[in-house]
Amino acid sequence: MVIKNKTTSSRSPRLYRDLADWYPLLTPVDDYAEEAALYRSLFEAHCRQQPQTLLDLGCGSGHNASYLQETLVCTLLDLEPAMLELSRRLNPECEHVQGDMRSVRLGRAFDCILVHDAVSYMASRTDLADTVATAFAHTAPGGVTLFQPDFVVETFETGIETGGSDAGGRALRYLEWRWTPESDNNTYVTDMVYLLRDKSGEVEVIHDRHVMGLFSRAVWLELIAAAGFEPLVVPFAHSSCSDTGHEVFLGLRPITNQGA
Ligand SMILES: C[S@@+](CC[C@H](N)C(=O)[O-])C[C@H]1O[C@@H](n2cnc3c(N)ncnc32)[C@H](O)[C@@H]1O
Repeated sequence: MVIKNKTTSSRSPRLYRDLADWYPLLTPVDDYAEEAALYRSLFEAHCRQQPQTLLDLGCGSGHNASYLQETLVCTLLDLEPAMLELSRRLNPECEHVQGDMRSVRLGRAFDCILVHDAVSYMASRTDLADTVATAFAHTAPGGVTLFQPDFVVETFETGIETGGSDAGGRALRYLEWRWTPESDNNTYVTDMVYLLRDKSGEVEVIHDRHVMGLFSRAVWLELIAAAGFEPLVVPFAHSSCSDTGHEVFLGLRPITNQGA
């Protein structure tokens, strides 16, 4: 057994770079059907026009998009080329764009914007405000942006989770350990340990640190309103979200607002 223990890095977690090929074993696409249906119904309920287009900021491997594209023309954006490559394989008919959700400007607007769990990587108030501004700049008048942080301050709990799956002769199991550093009350740390078993039966153990943002409901609502949206918080639960994703934040872009 090979043991590797990577130290903290300011780069994206390895899960989204050299280990991206293992990502679908950590969180299989089938687990997303129910939550994607809930996102679709929220878009349909809150968009002032019949929603036709969607931009997914931080699409990852495009698991949510693989369901949403059944009724929406999807543009999928991510920072990491390896994740975009996974999504291209799953969603070959969708447009894919490499970019940073804090700063990208595509010069066009969409009926729906999804900023799913990738928004949890906004680990400072400035990064979160910049991402909300990006969402506003791409939301059509009458359109809606949906933000789904894993936690807000009021719902955060330290703890551990385990999981994983087998596919194509390979297997992954993980331990996820969430904790808060004393030095920074706007972040929490998710230390992940992956056990990766390849087709030969060899197991590699890898530590990968994810630094995540943690903001109160009040901060979320304040930043969404400051960008120009009408903010809304909606309770949210589905069978595959155990500890995370208790609520979604919506930003409704007024039809009259011509800003950004
Ligand atoms: C957990 S994955 C998203 C999975 C996705 N929700 C799905 O449905 O498959 C998180 C993604 O956020 C992306 N990400 C993190 N920071 C980003 C940024 N600043 N801009 C764009 N993407 C970012 C990562 O590269 C990673 O692919």
